[in-house]
Formats: sequence, C-alpha cells, structure tokens
Amino acid sequence: MATSLLRPQDLLRPSADSTVRGTYFIQTWGCQMNEEDSEQMGLYLEQLGFRPSSGLEEAHVVLLNTCSVRKKPEDKAFSLLGELVPLKRRRPEMVIGVCGCMAQIRADEIKQRAPHVDFVVGTAQISEIPGLVEEAFQKRKFAKRLALPERKGAVVTDIPQRKVDRQTKLKAFVPIQYGCDKFCTYCIVPATRGRERSRATQDILAEVQMLVERGTREVTLLGQTVNSYGKNLAEGRVPFSQLLWRLSEIEGLRRIRYTSPYPRDFKSDLIETIRDCPAVMEHVHLPLQSGNNEMLQAMKRVYTQESFREIVHQLRAAVPGIGLTTDIIVGFPGESEEQFEETLAFVEEIEFDGAYMFIYSPRPGTPAADLPQLPYPVKQARLSRLAAAQDEISCRHNSEQAGKILEVLVEGRSPKDRTMAKGYSRDFRMVHFLAPDDLEDRTGRLAAVRAERGFRWGVQGQFLDWLE
Ligand code: SAH
Ligand code: SF4
Ligand code: F3S
Repeated sequence: MATSLLRPQDLLRPSADSTVRGTYFIQTWGCQMNEEDSEQMGLYLEQLGFRPSSGLEEAHVVLLNTCSVRKKPEDKAFSLLGELVPLKRRRPEMVIGVCGCMAQIRADEIKQRAPHVDFVVGTAQISEIPGLVEEAFQKRKFAKRLALPERKGAVVTDIPQRKVDRQTKLKAFVPIQYGCDKFCTYCIVPATRGRERSRATQDILAEVQMLVERGTREVTLLGQTVNSYGKNLAEGRVPFSQLLWRLSEIEGLRRIRYTSPYPRDFKSDLIETIRDCPAVMEHVHLPLQSGNNEMLQAMKRVYTQESFREIVHQLRAAVPGIGLTTDIIVGFPGESEEQFEETLAFVEEIEFDGAYMFIYSPRPGTPAADLPQLPYPVKQARLSRLAAAQDEISCRHNSEQAGKILEVLVEGRSPKDRTMAKGYSRDFRMVHFLAPDDLEDRTGRLAAVRAERGFRWGVQGQFLDWLE
C-alpha cells in the first residue's frame, strides 16, 4: 500500500469542489483529547463550507474548546470571552460557540457571564455543531446541547459520532476510550466526560487504516485510563494489548503511542507487548500523582508506591532504556511536608525522563475541594522544589544519550530555529539537528541521528542518514 507524504502546508488545503462560506477559528485548551476534539470540530465546519481563518478577529465562526481540569484554563476561557465582547459588538454576525469540558459543566454560568455566546455544546455532542452554527446564523437564540449519555448495561451504545474522513497528518490522535470511571477525588474529568466507554475495535482499526493510507505514520491512542480499554464491548472483551497488536499489523504504521495508562491496570501482557511489538514505542507516560501511600489513598488512586515501583522495575527490565514520564500533583489537601518529601524522594529514586507537575487546584463538585486547603505559597514552594529536582534528572538523562544513535521520525523544521530539523526518538525525546539539504523532500521519514548534547527539553544531535 502506498503512503503519500504531505508537507505541513498541504494539511488544511480546502477541497476544490465545495463552496467557501466563511472562516473559522478554534481556540483549544486542555489535553490531547481536546486537541483531537478540536480537529473534529474543524472537520465538521469544513463540511459546512468554512475554512480556517488566519486570526480570531476576522473569523465568522469562533469556537472555544475549554478545559476544567484546573482553575487556570477556566480563567483563560472566560478572559477570551471578555475579549470577544467588543469584536461581537463590531461584527454581530460573528458566531461564538463554547465547547469542551467547561461547557459541559458550566453552561449556565457561561450564558450568564457571556451573553454574547450563541451556543454551548458538551463533550459528547460535537456532531451537533454544524446544526448549531446554522441555527445561530439564522435565528440568534442561545442554544445548548449537553447530553452526556450513560452506559447502558453491558453493551456500548453511546460512543460519540465521529468524522473519520480526516485530513492528512504525520502524527494523529485517535480516541479509543471516552470518559472515566475512576473518580480520583481531585478530578473533574468523570463529570465532564461521563462514564468510561470503549470504541469498537473494528472502528478504530478502520480509522487508523484510513489515516495511514493518507500518510499518517504515528498514532497516539487516547483514553483517560487507556489500558482499561475493551471492557463492555458488544464484540466481547478486547484487551488493550491485543488492540496494539492488531493495529501494528497495519502496513505503513511506524509508531504507536498511547496516553494515559492507569498504574493498577498495567499488567504483564502490556509490558510484553511493549517489548515485542515493533510499532509500539518504547515510552510510557505513567501518572504517579503522589509518591506517598496516604496521599494516594486520599486521592483514591488504587495503587501504592510499592506497586508503582514494581511496574517501573518490570518495564525497565523488559525494555532497557525505555522512556518514562509522569504526572504529579503537589499540595493535595492534607499533604504534610513529610508526605511531600516522600514524593520528592520517590521522584529522585525512580528518575523519570520527564514530568508534568501541577499545583493542586480545587475543582468544585469533587470530594477533595471540600477538604481544608493548604496555603497557596506552600503549594507553590513544593512545586518549585519538585520541578528543580525533575529538571536536573531530565537534563541528565538527555545528556546521557550522547553518543547513541537515535531513530527519529522527522517532522520538519524547528519553529524556533529554521536551520534545525525536529523530531522525536522512539523513547519520546525531542531531537533537534542541523537540517539536511533534502529535508523538505524527506519530511515524515525516519532518520538516524547521533545524540550529542542533552538539555531539559531534549537532545541535540547530528544527522547521519535517512533510514527510508
Ligand atoms: N486520566 C489521566 C489524567 C487526566 S488529567 C490520568 O489518570 O492519569 C491530567 C493530569 O492533570 C492528571 O494526571 C493530574 O496530574 C492533573 N490534575 C487533574 N486534576 C487536577 C487538579 N484538580 N489539580 C491539579 N492537577 C490536576
Ligand atoms: Fe481523572 Fe483519575 Fe479519571 Fe484520570 S483516572 S481522568 S485523574 S478521575
Ligand atoms: Fe481538560 Fe477535559 Fe482534558 S478537563 S484535561 S480538556 S478531559
């Protein structure tokens, strides 16, 4: 099967046969799930005859795809809604829609604080957007679509509709599981995304097949607890590791990633698949949240420091050099100095290659938000200490790559320095190297790069040769 490699400038080329009605602008906050949802929103708007606009000011349709995981992204969304007031006054025909996680749980507040919004649409209703846009153009009456379907018995009937006729991307996100049933006590996601439900294996395989035929070489499978994929499917249980093997049979698909697995469900079949399945990347993003068992219990994370350590040991024994990254929350209610220091010590013991570290942000409606909170400066100081420790480890690990030959999927020029090319290694380190002369013709292919220097952000190296 032929794979066509498109250049980035080809990616959003409008189809020649449809009439262009106007332009759209989508502002996205939050996780990869939201980024993927924004791509879906774009596809729906394209189908309606809209094309991407170069900026917010001139767009006919503006969508805010929001995130509620912490207070900050919510504040940013309300702040942008404020900036839209004078624009909407100048151009009343502009359609403004608020989508995503904050839309799902704060529709009434959005309507009240931002009366210039035309519609609010929840996380499971993206396919309603074309209808809502048409409606807004015609009658200018506030509309909302917030249904969040529940799982019915053992059979999945409530997967959101998707446009699988996607445009070409070198690296594509593919949702395989929606919602979350874990209910960690700090987390708003189960409220914004609903119950855990898996997409039919056949649908995932067909979508990835189509993507690969259009030039995709790497997919990232998305789910809140992605390794519990495959429960409650009409076709019977399909373990996540089996899905990885089936995807790896798609000819032309070079790399498979996934995010985020949940530690308790990280079993030996998955470790063996990472070791044995050539397309599965040697990288695991395994969220720790805390290294202290009391905190883990208070967070309702059903694993322990000891069981987490055991998974890491098994992974490193099976796949030497595997890249390991994590998420950590500091300042959860009741976290003592000693408990924080246990997390810090654990981070220094495990030596992750990278970590996303967050200050606990109380989310109204979640159990932890009702507990007595730590003062902000205490949380901030803990974050600084943890981040300094992790930065030193990330930098050291990247420096230790020096001399190694890395397989890099070349994505094109670095946006910061156009003389440099950029890509990722198989253990998910960002790699920069002086762009070879034929970069533009070969973008999207694998290259061998010799690592020379490590930084906090990744590795700088020297291009050796194209591998294909
Ligand atoms: N489903 C994924 C995480 C999704 S949210 C998982 O379980 O790993 C992404 C990250 O945001 C989480 O891993 C956590 O570290 C962080 N996070 C979630 N809720 C938070 C809150 N209330 N305050 C601060 N960080 C939070
Ligand atoms: Fe949130 Fe926990 Fe579910 Fe992750 S597993 S989405 S942190 S409730
Ligand atoms: Fe944010 Fe929703 Fe993702 S709350 S992190 S956009 S699932």
